[in-house]
Order: sequence, then C-alpha cells, then structure tokens
Amino acid sequence: MSYLLIKNIKKLVQVEDKPEKWKVGQEMSELNSIDNAWLLVEGDRIKDFGQMNTLPTSNSELRTSNLKELDATNRMVFPSFCDSHTHLVYPASREVEYVDKIKGLSYEEIAKRGGGILNSAKKMKETTVAELVDGALLRLEEIASYGTGAVEIKSGYGLDTHEELKMLYAIRKLKEISPLTIKSTFLGAHAIPAAYKGKQHEYVDIVINEMIPQVAAEGLADYIDVFCDRGFFTVEDTDRILMAGMKYGLQPKIHANELDYSGGIQVGVKYNARSVDHLEYTGDEEIEVLKNSETMPTVLPGAAFFLGMVYAPARKIIDAGLPVAMASDFNPGSSPSGNMQLILSMASILDRLTPEEAINACTINGAYAMGLEEELGSIAKGKKANLFITKEIPTLEFMPYYYGSNKVETVILNGKII
Ligand code: NIG
Ligand code: FE
Repeated sequence: MSYLLIKNIKKLVQVEDKPEKWKVGQEMSELNSIDNAWLLVEGDRIKDFGQMNTLPTSNSELRTSNLKELDATNRMVFPSFCDSHTHLVYPASREVEYVDKIKGLSYEEIAKRGGGILNSAKKMKETTVAELVDGALLRLEEIASYGTGAVEIKSGYGLDTHEELKMLYAIRKLKEISPLTIKSTFLGAHAIPAAYKGKQHEYVDIVINEMIPQVAAEGLADYIDVFCDRGFFTVEDTDRILMAGMKYGLQPKIHANELDYSGGIQVGVKYNARSVDHLEYTGDEEIEVLKNSETMPTVLPGAAFFLGMVYAPARKIIDAGLPVAMASDFNPGSSPSGNMQLILSMASILDRLTPEEAINACTINGAYAMGLEEELGSIAKGKKANLFITKEIPTLEFMPYYYGSNKVETVILNGKII
C-alpha cells in the first residue's frame, strides 16, 4: 500500500466527521475546516487527518518506505470540485456564434437559424469516437489542473441513435482512461433535429423507442436528461421521455427553466430527478415544489454570464432552506469554460453566495447532484482522495476573490499526484 502525507496545511477545508449527503439552506454557510493540519492518504482513500500537534509520530504507516510526504506550508487543501453538469465531449468549438452573439443575436435566434446545438450535431457526423476522446481528454486535463476531480458528461450532440451512442462510447472510454471520476448522462432530447421540425413528437418517439432501450441495454448512461424549455422540448415530451427512462432505471438530471418558466422543475421533481439545472426562471411556485423533494437545484452561472441572460435566484433558493449546487455547464455554445474556480467567483459575485456557500455548492452539493456524495465532495475518512493543494494564499476568501487566475498548485486524484 502506498501512503501520502501532507503536512503543515494552513487550512484543511471542508472536513467532515460524519459525512452528510448535502448542505441545505443555512448549513451552506458552514464550512468545517482545520487550521495547521495534516492529512494522510492510503492508496486511493483518505485515511486520517487532524491538527499538526496530533500527528502520530510512532505510527508504522508513517515510517514505511512507501510514504511520500508533501509540505503544504502557507497552502490550503480542498476536496476536488465536483462539476455535475458538462457537455465536454463535443466535435468542435463554436466561436463563430460568439461573434453573432456579440452582434446581438440571442441563443434562441442562433438555434432557430440551425446554429447552436444543431451546428454541433452536423459536425458530430464527421467526427470519430477516437477524435471525440482525444479532444475531451485535453479538456479533462485542463479542468483537473483547475481543481476538478469529478465530472458529469452528457451526450446530446448526436441527435440520432448512431451518433448519440457514439458520444456515449466516447464517455465510456474516458471513464476507463481518465483519472477523474466521471458520470455519463444520455441527452438525446437536447434539440429537435432539423428533419423533425414541426413533427417533434416523432423525434421523441425515436428517443423513447430506439435510443433509450439501446443506451440502457449497453449500460451507457448513469442518468437521463431532457432540455425542457421554450423552443426545445415541452413538459409533455419531457414527461414521456422521463417515464420511459424510469422504466430502464435511468434517473433524470434535467435542463429546466433556462429560457422561461417552462414547467421543467415540476416535471423533474415528479420523476424524482437527481438534479434540475439552470433555473434562471425560478419563482415561488418552483421553490415550493423543490422543498418537498430530494432533487438538487443546480445553478450554472457560466451559461447565464456568457449568454448575457438573467441570473438564477440562487440566493433566494438557499434562503428558502433549499440546497444549491453550482456547475460549469462546460460546452461549446453557452459556456466554453470548465474552470470551477471561476464558478466560485461567479457564485459569489453574480449570485451573491458567500465564499463558504459557493464552496459547498461546488463540492459536496455538486457530488450529490451526480450521485457521488458518499465518495467525494468533502474531506472525510474513507472517501476517495481527490483533492488539491493551493498555491500560497492568504485566506479562504482569496479563492473566489482573486478571480481568473489558477490558485491550484498540486492536484491529487485517486491518492496520486497528477
Ligand atoms: O446547458 N441549454 C442547453 N444546452 C446547453 C448548451 C449546449 C450548446 O449550446 O452547445 C446548455 O447551456
Ligand atoms: Fe447544459
């Protein structure tokens, strides 16, 4: 067995003696931390931790030749970020639309002209699984260097059975070869393909009768997603798709209420969604529905920022006693960044979360939003040792405050330095 001991940690952030599944409401402002700490990793797990004056010197584990020591003087240790919503497998970037957006076209207008998701779907047909994997691996390396240790990745740029499966094969390969912990989500209902314009129920039939059975038969997805919003899929479409997914044991994680009060939150909760994501249009009625659920409200500030849209009422959701997770939505159209440190800054600046709330949103609550809360999201004995050591930083608040620069110095995934 190999051991890793990190000593003289200025602050060991987000420690839990009794791991909880999520942080709700007021609890989100609590961030348990130990000053002047040590942390011991055994294999790929967190073995123990404490204050420096409790470091057991006679412990045989700490004298084995398989022990590697790191000194974290003036540095903090965090659990890795858990980014519960991305589309980071894609064929090509879409900066042409970026210029259209600057010139004044909205996300929906670009989509109506066959840009947006349909543009990616066109390029998908010319891209091989190996090319998808190569591109995504680079992005995984990049997000790991910014502190992400777990990530959810969606299909949804295929929009026909063959192409959707291709994306899911790429995600399966990434699960095998990447040191990050990955969850996969089937998002066949991401946009209505051009050929089905005006008869979208026929496309929904294909999703239900062709795609879901094959995805389930090959065990390719952990979750199922639908873009339930104005101009995309209706509540009725979503209801049918989630019902079909449920029959195959696929729990929903859906796109909801980004463009309007779409009813997406309600239909997500109806099917016990693990999370409902985006939430720019969330009012009192939606908040009431969420209160009686096990569904994680997930806010994606990067997309609202990049598209220049209204921000989700994250503050109001937390003040209502609910949990909130934050994720990057890393994708080529509405949020071309997977930098979770930037999401911390956006969470506090744009959504008015305190640094503690923002960190909880990006760690333990993000872990819950992809079913990883028992494995990741905090520093707790027995959890997977996915963590990072910061550069020298003066305070915890410095993390969201000093935005745009990488404050991560050393990344540890599965107990190994990357
Ligand atoms: O989460 N809202 C829908 N889907 C993605 C955008 C994907 C794209 O534009 O490529 C999102 O923002
Ligand atoms: Fe998304």
